[in-house]
Amino acid sequence: MVLDLLASHSSVRDYEDVTLSRETVERLVSAGQHAASSHFVQAYSVIHVTDPAKREALAELSKNPKQFLTAGAALVFCMDFRRLTAAAGLQNEEIVYSNAEALVVGVTDTALFAQNVAVAAESEGYGICYIGGVRNAPEEISEVLGLPEGVAPLYGMTIGVPKFRNEVKPRLPVASILHENEYNSEKYEEQLPEYDRTMNDYYLNRGSNRKDATWSGDMAAFLKEPRRMHLKEFLAKQGFRFE
Ligand SMILES: Cc1cc2nc3c(=O)[nH]c(=O)nc-3n(C[C@H](O)[C@H](O)[C@H](O)COP(=O)(O)O)c2cc1C
Repeated sequence: MVLDLLASHSSVRDYEDVTLSRETVERLVSAGQHAASSHFVQAYSVIHVTDPAKREALAELSKNPKQFLTAGAALVFCMDFRRLTAAAGLQNEEIVYSNAEALVVGVTDTALFAQNVAVAAESEGYGICYIGGVRNAPEEISEVLGLPEGVAPLYGMTIGVPKFRNEVKPRLPVASILHENEYNSEKYEEQLPEYDRTMNDYYLNRGSNRKDATWSGDMAAFLKEPRRMHLKEFLAKQGFRFE
């Protein structure tokens, strides 16, 4: 049952006009919080954006208007060391999170929390879409959401009743992902062209947004240039400095 649910995931970018209640959002967030957490730091917060003007700002700044304007709920997931600073303050202590390890912990905790929220939402029949586009304008979005030092937005998530569902995208074969005892890159020579054929077939025949593309072609184009180079400076401003 859970395996079937996980295997049925596809991102939803077009929603029916149904607003998620505060209770629903609280239930999903509570499910998210049960994810494992590194040393139990729980280094995340999520902003539920209900103010229409802020929703519009998010839509524009993230360059993902359709999802933010039509979804039943708009969330922004943030890694958060502000609350940990407050907790340490209760003990008259100061914490350090300017190191690379803290960044990895914060990103990991937030991702596990967010993915639990996503699976919980999908288990109730909603569709979701992550919006990494919030990192297009992290500084402006932090201002809109009043994020203090120690807090950084990592991705948004829209949740709602799907108006349209994409077909499930074929994933890489398990054999490409799963290595036994040691890493083996030799297998890719055979497996990746095979996967490109699978993805090309998927892209040519899917219900919408058809294109003659391959996975390796898309990845090469996507990763040819560094992206969002403003991020390092923004994170440093929020206190995350990769030390
Ligand atoms: C962290 C993260 C950020 C993403 N950002 C966006 C985004 O900004 N806009 C969008 O339309 N989809 C976004 N996606 C969705 C991916 O494009 C999608 O998960 C991927 O193409 C696989 O398709 P599927 O989710 O339908 O299986 C994001 C996914 C993740 C995990």
